Amino acid sequence: MKSSAPKGTQDLLPEVTAAWQQVERQFADLCHLYGYEEIRIPTFEHTEVFQRGVGDTTDIVQKEMYTFEDLAGRSLTLRPEGTAGVVRSFVQNGLASQPFPQRLFYMITAFRYENVQKGRYREFHQLGVEAFGSEGPGIDAELLAMLWHYFGLLGLEKIDLHINNIGCPDCRAVYREALLDYLRPHQAELCEDCRGRLERNPMRVLDCKNEGCQRVTASAPLILDHLDEACQTHFSGLKRSLDALEVPYTIDPRIVRGLDYYTKTVFEFVSENVGTQGTICGGGRYDGLVEALGGPSLPGIGFAMGEERLLMEMEAQGALRKPRPAAQLFIGSMGDAAWQKAQMIAQNLRKAGVAAQYELCGRSLKAQMKYAGKSGARYVMVLGDAELEAGEAQVRSLIDRDREQQTFSIHDTGALEAFFLAQTE
Ligand code: HAM
Repeated sequence: MKSSAPKGTQDLLPEVTAAWQQVERQFADLCHLYGYEEIRIPTFEHTEVFQRGVGDTTDIVQKEMYTFEDLAGRSLTLRPEGTAGVVRSFVQNGLASQPFPQRLFYMITAFRYENVQKGRYREFHQLGVEAFGSEGPGIDAELLAMLWHYFGLLGLEKIDLHINNIGCPDCRAVYREALLDYLRPHQAELCEDCRGRLERNPMRVLDCKNEGCQRVTASAPLILDHLDEACQTHFSGLKRSLDALEVPYTIDPRIVRGLDYYTKTVFEFVSENVGTQGTICGGGRYDGLVEALGGPSLPGIGFAMGEERLLMEMEAQGALRKPRPAAQLFIGSMGDAAWQKAQMIAQNLRKAGVAAQYELCGRSLKAQMKYAGKSGARYVMVLGDAELEAGEAQVRSLIDRDREQQTFSIHDTGALEAFFLAQTE
């Protein structure tokens, strides 16, 4: 039996999950402020959802999917991303009949068979949104303002937003020819991957990290010079709204994204701290995807953020908050009667919303106090015969040892609850 987790997967242990919960809670709260409701979709879909949704020519579909046959011989695939599944669900459940824009958010695991390195895993987590039914650039800007708002709430200051417009199918067809005309004579100078995808997906050559490819594409024609009037108007509308909403951005005509469904606006939030790829969040508009997956002709836009990369960035920028203490109060006890009392007080405190612990391993008082200190509890209380007789006990701070002890009734725990609740506010 192999006793280690599969390559590219991670265990998230209690020492880190508090930070994960924090970013997820803040994301869900923020989504609600902007009108997004949560959607939960299956972990696997029929393989063709991704073939048609993400696109047959993409690296994801060609090389990175976890595809398997179930016992009835159906081809299923672990989701490599969320958009295709959300759109499949949107169409299947008739959500297009609800008022627009329809805004959905999700927090999912995703699976890609990739070369594992810093910030790149085979199982990873995405926080994402998809919005349907709004055609103009207003919602593109709103989405980017929401992300900017989110990064601000998390305390991230050094993240750069790069935006581009990759056109609609019409102007992209013209651009594709111009790009191919330029690239074909340089074919021999491209890396093997790019030679392979040149005819299939020439725009991907533009964001190849290989030095030779970058040299070739340095003077390649740019999509922004080939946009038709409608796409140009969309792009200038987006820039105007971003300026008005004070969201700083850089225009980066080389962003092409690795998924086939994008049209017009595409964007990435990048940082140096998250490995060679550097992208914390990516997204864009996909005006043909709903129809491609069997729904009505309806525009859509969304993004997904890699949660691992987000947390890496927070750590690098010193924005990770300390986890909450395991318990506000540990109640030590000597003897059975005192233990019974400790059990009751702890339960009353928890019902009032205060994290409390008591002894559950039969340790000596000295060992209980050692445990309380190690566990990160902020306060201790000790119950013995004397406290039971007096009907009161002292609460002592483990954080600030000079702080005066306070005495509380152990029969009526109202004052004790109030003391701790005041501290957690
Ligand atoms: P994506 O750019 O493929 O877009 O992934 C979005 C984010 O997921 C990336 O920016 C990165 O932070 C994270 N990510 C991707 N692959 C990995 C990996 N192997 N390990 C760790 N993190 C990773 C999408 O998935 C689109 N569905 C985004 C979207 C939503 N577009 C429109 N709506």
